[in-house]
Amino acid sequence: TKLITLDDGFVNTGSTKSAITFLDGEKGILRYRGYPIEELAKHCDFVETAFLLIYGELPNASQAEIFRAGIRDHTMIHEDMRSFYNGFPRDAHPMAILSSVVGALATFYQDSLNPNDPDQVEISLYRLLAKLPTIAAYSYKKSMGQPFMYPNNDLSYCENFLHMMFATPARDYVVDPDFVEALNLLFIVHADHEQNCSTSTVRMVGSSNANLFASISAGIGALWGPLHGGANEACVNMLETIAKDGGNVQKYVDMAKDKENGFRLMGFGHRVYKNFDPRAKIIRASCDKLLAKLQLDDPLFEVAQKLEEVALQDEYFIERKLYPNVDFYSGVIYRALGIPIQMFTVLFAIGRLPGWIAHWEEMHNNPSTRINRPRQIYTGATERAFVPLEER
Ligand code: CMC
Repeated sequence: TKLITLDDGFVNTGSTKSAITFLDGEKGILRYRGYPIEELAKHCDFVETAFLLIYGELPNASQAEIFRAGIRDHTMIHEDMRSFYNGFPRDAHPMAILSSVVGALATFYQDSLNPNDPDQVEISLYRLLAKLPTIAAYSYKKSMGQPFMYPNNDLSYCENFLHMMFATPARDYVVDPDFVEALNLLFIVHADHEQNCSTSTVRMVGSSNANLFASISAGIGALWGPLHGGANEACVNMLETIAKDGGNVQKYVDMAKDKENGFRLMGFGHRVYKNFDPRAKIIRASCDKLLAKLQLDDPLFEVAQKLEEVALQDEYFIERKLYPNVDFYSGVIYRALGIPIQMFTVLFAIGRLPGWIAHWEEMHNNPSTRINRPRQIYTGATERAFVPLEER
């Protein structure tokens, strides 16, 4: 028998070869298909970035237009799907709604569930990219008790999302170009991050030959956790608590160092980045710019900056190489855009979708893929004699 190597949390276990995203945690480098994210954030929009991740190359003008038109074709969700929303409690978390409704796409599109048919996969990925913002915005409308807004295909991807979130039948929503720019940037920096927890989940589920909708639905569940995508929501909740507590950041830094209470600084630390998270750098700069442009004075931004400053000078954080991650400042931008806290992780999911799809496809197209099935080291009881009920 082969010796099994144990690697808790897969800290040093490669699960696959991949050509999608390059990440150097020591140097703080992140590239999609070879392009530095800083460049993509500056020159591309989210839909082009999605094309790049999924097809491996930046689109030329006509490829981009075909891709955008294909997405526009599928933005509506089936009218019968709207009735699902009636069944969810009003205070349901939108991530729960998102993963349920995405899973339910498999009930409406039974014509495209075969993972080994490239045409079926292609239409599924268009449907997912197009419908996720609609599904997400409807979950917000449900929580507000407002009527759903149909997608508007005259608008760009990000404009349309903001329209579905904030327009009402009684009031048009004029989309601010600064908001659109900030949203594009946030979606781009979230679009992929190699073998993170949710992407590994999508690959894991897909490796059993489950369909794309089922795999993405599982990935949304993984993303929801506060140690992963849920950290953006948890981070803003934490910043609010600190602000209400008089802005005493030192107290929370000290609390985070104390292992007894289980409290961690949300938005701090990363499995791979041990120097800085390049995404956090981009987001912080954009946050600064957006707040200045909108002339918004968000006390949470001040708390965040103070917290970062104090933590980065603290021995505990220095020794462990803990830096702000992507989730540290993103929530402050979402707030400036008027996005409610419960929706933060949903926005992360919209951003991460192209990455999930790219990885799922890469896995399926790789002839050496086998079902993902880790081993274990058994630590339970050795064989013992069965005890009848009356003798227990
Ligand atoms: N606050 C206080 N201590 C921390 C923190 C933190 N945020 N993060 C790590 N540590 C400590 C941890 O207690 C451990 O200390 P020791 O060596 O004394 O036991 C050491 O640093 C190493 O941490 P770890 O938990 O072994 O590291 P990991 O690679 O397993 O976990 C992490 C990475 C991101 C889950 C963790 O840093 C964390 O919980 N951060 C807060 C949640 C968060 O911001 N998550 C978002 C991550 S980035 C975006 C995403 O993935 O979605």
